[in-house]
Amino acid sequence: MKALVISALRLARTTPFRLAVLYLAMFVLSVALILAVVYRTTAGFLESEIGETIALEVAGLQDQYRGQGLRGLVDAVRDRSATSHTNSVYLLTTPGGVILAGNLSAWPTAVPDASGWTHFKVAEYGGTSDRPSTAMAVTFTLPGKFRLLVGRDMSEIDQLRGRMIASLRWILAVTALLGLGGGLLVARGAMRRIEAINRTTRQIMAGDLTGRVPRSGGGDEIDRLAGNLNAMLDQIERLMTGMRQVTESVAHDLRTPLTRLRSRIELALIHETEDPEVYRAVLQETIAEADRLLATFTALLSIAEAESGAKRTELEPVKLAEPVRIAADLYEPVAEDKGQTLVTDIRGEPVVRGNGQLLAQAVSNLLDNAIKYTPEGGRIALVLEGAAHGRGPRVTIADNGPGIPSDMREKVLQRFVRLDTARASPGNGLGLSLVDAVARLHGARLVLEDNAPGLRISLEFPANGGTFATPPH
Ligand SMILES: Nc1ncnc2c1ncn2[C@@H]1O[C@H](COP(=O)(O)OP(=O)(O)OP(=O)(O)O)[C@@H](O)[C@H]1O
Ligand SMILES: [Mg+2]
Repeated sequence: MKALVISALRLARTTPFRLAVLYLAMFVLSVALILAVVYRTTAGFLESEIGETIALEVAGLQDQYRGQGLRGLVDAVRDRSATSHTNSVYLLTTPGGVILAGNLSAWPTAVPDASGWTHFKVAEYGGTSDRPSTAMAVTFTLPGKFRLLVGRDMSEIDQLRGRMIASLRWILAVTALLGLGGGLLVARGAMRRIEAINRTTRQIMAGDLTGRVPRSGGGDEIDRLAGNLNAMLDQIERLMTGMRQVTESVAHDLRTPLTRLRSRIELALIHETEDPEVYRAVLQETIAEADRLLATFTALLSIAEAESGAKRTELEPVKLAEPVRIAADLYEPVAEDKGQTLVTDIRGEPVVRGNGQLLAQAVSNLLDNAIKYTPEGGRIALVLEGAAHGRGPRVTIADNGPGIPSDMREKVLQRFVRLDTARASPGNGLGLSLVDAVARLHGARLVLEDNAPGLRISLEFPANGGTFATPPH
């Protein structure tokens, strides 16, 4: 019982319940207003009816007075007053106030209103009647200062008012009951669904990211909220999983070089040679290894920075030809060393909003791959095209090496992913991740295609500085 009261009290504090009570109050108010208007018009109608009845009575008495004088009037009033169950009130007095005939005990002290009607409580001047109702009456002063009062009690109007008030009370009681009950029911329904959301939130706060808000399928606002929350949770879960994978791969991929580094130093110590040249060689190798590690960290940090979008505020107009030329100049000698031809073809002068340094880094990474994975004597083309035919500017690097199988083209963009065929050449599998992050930062997209043979990879910028509607992954 106590628990029931507590839960009812809790429901009473909810928004749905408050809304229900508010609507209830408004409903009762409007019913009261309607009843008041009905009462007013009905009462007005009844009053005019009563007025007409009184006018008829007055006309009858007038006939009597005209025909038989005061005597006849006294008789007529006496006759009419004698009828029990009459709704009419009469009083005929002498100039001195002595009652000659009628069913009132005294002349009412009330003053006539603007339209000539006198209203008074019948009971106070009861005489023969003790009805609690009010009466309305007209008064006349006859020749010789005799006074006549003819009226009718308004019990019908009083009854009407009584009935109206009674029904209003009933309506009030029933609506209050229905409203409270309905409000509690509505509140309970809404609260049950909110509670489901709360349960999911608690589950997630406890560390279980798989929790989802159950949906009723009705498509109402709570359902839509649940849908959005679930979509948000999906996204968070995806990001968390991605982050965990990255952390795991970072830890895994840095372990190997660090272990190598450590065993190399350890071995040098174990051999205990006197020859400083041996130590020198080991130290030099150690530095080289440490440099590679540092390069990996730098690459990881650049990717994280580009992905976080922190550099987005630093974007400024960049002539795409500049980063392309920088990268080409850097890699031409490398290609030459490997007996490859690197052909750079700059068509047009496209300008994009971007970060020149990151763009040069991205093009360099792509050239690095093309040179690294294409056998000696290969051909590499670097092409910059301006915007045309509704598409934005694009930078394309095409080689005639082994290429990337179509089912791996998405995968190689992930951190630390390298194809088995690449194991022979140095690398961490971070180059394309950075290019992809830089592309995203610029609202551009990275397209990998078959160059038959080889790989053709393009950095496609959006037309008119817009962005591609590509979903984040
Ligand atoms: N031009 C290409 N031809 C063939 N395979 C490629 C080419 N570019 C990239 N790949 C494949 O994609 C993988 C990922 O490339 P990515 O540039 O990310 O890493 P990486 O070159 O191995 O190492 P890093 O760039 O970090 O030194 C490579 O290991 C290689 O297997
Ligand atoms: Mg690379």
